[in-house]
Amino acid sequence: MALNLDTRQRAMLAEMHVRVWSPVMAPEPAPVLETAALAHEPTPVHAPVASPAPHVLVPVVPAAPTAHAAALAAAPVRHETQRPEGLDQMDWAGLQATVASCQACTLCSTRHHTVFGVGAPAPQGQVPQVDWLLVGEAPGENEDLQGQPFVGQAGQLLDNMLRACGLSRAAEAGPEGGGIYITNVLKCRPPGNRNPKPEELAQCEPYLQRQVALLKPKIIVAMGRFAVQSLLQHSVPGVDNTPLGKLRGQVHSYQGVPVVVTYHPAYVLRNLPEKAKVWADLCLAMAQLQGRG
Ligand code: URA
Repeated sequence: MALNLDTRQRAMLAEMHVRVWSPVMAPEPAPVLETAALAHEPTPVHAPVASPAPHVLVPVVPAAPTAHAAALAAAPVRHETQRPEGLDQMDWAGLQATVASCQACTLCSTRHHTVFGVGAPAPQGQVPQVDWLLVGEAPGENEDLQGQPFVGQAGQLLDNMLRACGLSRAAEAGPEGGGIYITNVLKCRPPGNRNPKPEELAQCEPYLQRQVALLKPKIIVAMGRFAVQSLLQHSVPGVDNTPLGKLRGQVHSYQGVPVVVTYHPAYVLRNLPEKAKVWADLCLAMAQLQGRG
């Protein structure tokens, strides 16, 4: 994808480091007022933004294990209550019920609701028929209260951008597909919208894995660094230290599903010029989808 970045912009992008997850229990960071993703997206580049991507197919990046994946697997995890066995065989209704009653980490004690996800209508307990899966970070305050992902301002921006692509979270998939599903890496709100902790991510990631396996989307859009790190930890060496800007513009892979990386809508709300980049990323996702027919 042509980003039309000049040398100065490229240098600035190279400086846009993302914070490393530590597998060791870290002291809790001070709470932030807005969605946590805001604080951790890269410093905005206030320069002419890239135009939408041309509809060019990009090869899927092959999978390779990373140090992060190994470290996370070895991380000491404090189980509040073990997740049930057999998650990898669970159907959609079972998965929904399991998430709704999950007590695998301490977030269960502060949440009002779990937030499983939302998307194309489907009969109760049935897997929605979708082409797109959009993955964010974690529920915020509104999402925790309503039990739905992306219902706040960031959600409005997301809905607007999806509409521009002819997509809607509420629409049924048409004869040519197009249904979408929106979820988060974490299904419970971190108090004060603090960053997810490694042990919380480790406990919650299997739910996302199973959602992907059941939904079988044709494209995944990873929004923000926690979604990106969760989805690409097994396939992109050094993903924790790689600025999001460097992961954009190529098609990655998660469980064999193409993954496009983009900025978190909450970050874009604060850095509106970045909207054009998200639009470019969505164009890349659409091109990938069309190429798969
Ligand atoms: N931010 C997210 O990452 N997810 C939500 O559901 C809401 C805000």
